[in-house]
Amino acid sequence: MKTVSICFVCLGNICRSPTAEGVMRHLVDEAKLAERIVIDSAGTGDWHIGEPPDERAQLAASRRGYELAGLRGRQIAAADFDRFDLLIAMDDKNIVALRQICPPHQRDKIRLLMEFVPEADARWSGAREVVDPYFGGVEGFEQVLDQCEVACRGLIAALRPQLLA
Ligand code: 4NP
Repeated sequence: MKTVSICFVCLGNICRSPTAEGVMRHLVDEAKLAERIVIDSAGTGDWHIGEPPDERAQLAASRRGYELAGLRGRQIAAADFDRFDLLIAMDDKNIVALRQICPPHQRDKIRLLMEFVPEADARWSGAREVVDPYFGGVEGFEQVLDQCEVACRGLIAALRPQLLA
C-alpha cells in the first residue's frame, strides 16, 4: 500500500502549521485516506517547543470543527527530511530556513502550501503565502483557516494519483 508523509512548517508551530495539520487530518479522514497519509507539523524557530497551539488558533479552528488541542510545538530538524516526503511551508521565510538545514539531495521535498490551491480558485489563486497571524487580530486566524481549507483540498487531489498508482 502506498503512503505519503507530510510535515507542515511555519515559524512558531503554534498558529499556521498546527492549523494546516488539523484541517488536513479532518479532510484526510473524510476522504478515507487516514491510513495512507501521515501528517505532522513543526516550526523553524524554537520559542514554542512543547506548547499547545495559540488559543486564538484553537478557538477559530474548533468553530469550524477542527481539533488542535492535543498538538504540541516542536522544531524542525535535518532528520525530518528523511522522515517526510514533503515539507510544506507557509511562507518564503520558512522556505529559506528549511533550505538552510536541508540535505542538498532532498531540496525537492520543500514546497509552499499555496502551490496546491487550484488555479481556478477565485479568491486565493496566485496568493503565495499564508500570512503570519500571530501579531494581528482574529481575522488573521480566519484567513489562515480559509487558505488551509482550499490548499489542503488541493493537496489531497494532487496526492490521490500517486497513492492509487
Ligand atoms: P506561526 O506564528 O509561525 O504561524 O506559529 C507565530 C507564532 C509565534 C511567533 C511568530 C509567529 N513568535 O514570534 O513567537
